[in-house]
Amino acid sequence: MKKSIRDFELKGKKVIIRVDFNVPMENGIITDDNRIRESLETIEYAVDHGAKVILLSHLGRIKTEEDKKGHSLKPIADRLQGLITSKVIFVPETRGALVEEKINELKSGEILLLENTRFEDVVDLKESNDDTELGVYWASLGEIFINDAFGTAHRTHASNVGIARNLPSGIGFLIEKELKAFEPLLENPEHPFTIILGGAKVKDKIGVISNLVEKADQILIGGGMAYTFLKATGIEVGSSLVDDSSLDFCKKILEEYDQKIILPIDSVNADEISSNTIPNECFISDIKQGEMGLDIGHNTVKLFGQYLRDSKTILWNGPVGVFEYDNFSSGTEGICQILNDVDANIIIGGGDTVAAVKKLGYEKAMSFLSTGGGAALELLEGKTLPGIAAIDDL
Ligand code: 3PG
Repeated sequence: MKKSIRDFELKGKKVIIRVDFNVPMENGIITDDNRIRESLETIEYAVDHGAKVILLSHLGRIKTEEDKKGHSLKPIADRLQGLITSKVIFVPETRGALVEEKINELKSGEILLLENTRFEDVVDLKESNDDTELGVYWASLGEIFINDAFGTAHRTHASNVGIARNLPSGIGFLIEKELKAFEPLLENPEHPFTIILGGAKVKDKIGVISNLVEKADQILIGGGMAYTFLKATGIEVGSSLVDDSSLDFCKKILEEYDQKIILPIDSVNADEISSNTIPNECFISDIKQGEMGLDIGHNTVKLFGQYLRDSKTILWNGPVGVFEYDNFSSGTEGICQILNDVDANIIIGGGDTVAAVKKLGYEKAMSFLSTGGGAALELLEGKTLPGIAAIDDL
């Protein structure tokens, strides 16, 4: 069990909180501030307990000076200030005299946000390579380290693991909630336990399937990855996306778990992905040459519904169709509608699935929406997340 923010006396202390403010932005405008909102509980707790709060986050992937453009955390500091009553001070640097001066001036209950930690990647990928000197330096700015960046917990970076090595550390409420949602699925799920997997590539989900196939009662496969499974059974899938390198895995897992892996029985197809295309729905064996499958059909939604309605635990990772286009979103919407009526613990893992559920307006139907894409996947694969492993044990 890891220490948490509750285990520290925060009053008057400089508390570094690693948050994941890697939010989607278009032309400098934040398009979804969910990750900022989900960080508020920990930040407010620290403020209410008299801490001098120092926030660190990355945004995007930075390799060159040019990449820095459009990746400042300034708009995020402004959004945070709009969501919280305490004063938010933004320092447009990641280290140096200005950072140190502003931290020295910081009063209890105030919040300071440093510039994008990945600006340090421009020289020798210092942040992303967990540069020792950088971790020691950032740690020297505070007295306690709280990691609440679940979305980044699968990375071994200076701003999470590097600081944790050099300060007393704990996890924040967001990481605590994520672990509380995922751990029962990995350890002792209430049955029937059904997993819905979608998304483009089988190879991205091999780890999850391998880790959870024994624990789950069924795995329902949709999305682009379904066509690789279907091809593995000998079905002609036209020009649908097929991940040839995963065909052997699909054959093997289907042979071993033929009662557990449930594949689509019909498909919504088109010859191009465009909002103007009128799709053609057909049984899975009737996909025409030149057509690609872009969504599950309504009979598949019904079939999946039979499993979902009886389930007590449901994990959904990966949309079952190209939901970004209305003409290929009916399968994903159909699944949302079923989940809306199911009395189960429903965990949504993965960035795209959360985006789909939100776009279609079914957030409230779900028990938990993860803030982590890659981190959630690695947790489901049974991997240890280094950002959490680095935190002090209780
Ligand atoms: C995410 O959005 O998945 C996290 O913030 C991690 O970002 P990264 O994949 O660029 O490390």
